[in-house]
Amino acid sequence: MSKTLLLLPGDGIGPEVCAETARVAEWMNAYGQLNVSLDERPFGGAAYDLSGSPLPEETKAAALASDAALMGAVGGPKWAGSPRDKRPEAGLLGLRKAMQVFANLRPALCFDALADASTLKREVVAGLDIMIVRELTGGVYFGEPRFIETLPDGQRRAVDTQVYTTHEIERVARVAFELARGRRNKVASAEKSNVMETGLLWREVVTDLHKRDYADVELEHILADNAAMQLVRNPKGFDVIVTDNLFGDILSDEASQLTGSIGLLPSAALGIAGAPGLYEPVHGSAPDIAGQGIANPLAAILSFEMALRSSLDRADLADRLFAAVKSALDGGARTRDLGGSLTTRQMGDAVIAALER
Ligand code: IPM
Ligand code: MG
Repeated sequence: MSKTLLLLPGDGIGPEVCAETARVAEWMNAYGQLNVSLDERPFGGAAYDLSGSPLPEETKAAALASDAALMGAVGGPKWAGSPRDKRPEAGLLGLRKAMQVFANLRPALCFDALADASTLKREVVAGLDIMIVRELTGGVYFGEPRFIETLPDGQRRAVDTQVYTTHEIERVARVAFELARGRRNKVASAEKSNVMETGLLWREVVTDLHKRDYADVELEHILADNAAMQLVRNPKGFDVIVTDNLFGDILSDEASQLTGSIGLLPSAALGIAGAPGLYEPVHGSAPDIAGQGIANPLAAILSFEMALRSSLDRADLADRLFAAVKSALDGGARTRDLGGSLTTRQMGDAVIAALER
C-alpha cells in the first residue's frame, strides 16, 4: 500500500531544500522500489500570504492524514509585523501541537569528511554522534498564561509560563531511554532543577522512570547551563540528551555547529506509535540567502532519511540514502556553508548520483 509524504515547503530557503528532497524521493519511487505519493500544501508565511493563516485547515488536515510531513522552513522579516498568532512560527507551533509530536529527535553527527568544517578542533568533533531529544509540545512554548500588559505607571510587563506535567515528562524521557538502548546506552537529562520547579519535577520524574523501567541505562542528571558548556568542551561524552522544549531548541542549535554547519542537521518529531511524524531541518528560513539556490539541502534530505526510517517503514532505503549523503561528502561535494561552491541543485545531484552508484 502506498504511503503519503506531505511536503510543506514554507518560506525562505524552504522551497529550495524541499525541491531537492522531492527529487530524491521521486528517484526512489522510480528506481528504489519506494511507493510514496508526494503531496504539497502551503504553510508558514507563504500560506499566510495566500489565505491569511500560516496553518490553513486543509494543510493541517493533510498533515494529519499523511504518514509523514516534511517541512522546509518557516519565517522571515517579511512577516515580522504580522499579528502574533498569524506569524509563520505560530503556524509551526500549531502544527506540532495538532500532530501531537511531543518527541523531537535531533541527531548531531559529524561526518568524517567535515571534521575540519567545525569551528571546534577536529579531535573534539571527529566521530561525534549524539542525539538530542527535545520535548516539543509543552513547556514555555505553550504555557498559559502568556501576555504583555501595561501597568498603571506606564511600564509594560510580560509573562510566559513554563509548565510540565508528569505525563509530558515521562513520555519524552521514555523515548530517550529507548533510543539509548539502541545506541551507547547513556542518557543525560538536562534541566535547571537548581532554580526552576519544572526542573525539579523533571528530575524527579526521570529518576522514577529510570528506576522503574530503565535501570539498565546509564543516567546522568545535568544542569542545562552545564550541558551547554560540556557540549563544546567534550561533546563526545554525551550519547542521548533529553531536555525540555526551550533548552532543546538552544542546545540543538549549539550542537549543530559541532557538525560543521546547521545546514546538515535533520530532525524527526514523533508522537505515539503509528501517528504521522513531522520532519524538519533544524535550520531556519535563512532569508539572507533565500532564492539564490545556494542553500544546503542536506538537512532536509536527511530529514527525509529519518522519515523513511520512522514513518515510511523503509529503513533499508534510509540506510542507502545515508550512505549516499556520506559518499557525496566524501567525494568533496560542498555547498557554500561548508566552504564549497555547489548550488542547492548540484548538491541534490551529488546525492542522487551517489544513490545511483
Ligand atoms: C526550531 C526553530 C523553531 C523553534 C522556531 C522557528 C519556532 O527554532 O525548530 O528549532 O523555536 O522551535
Ligand atoms: Mg531552533
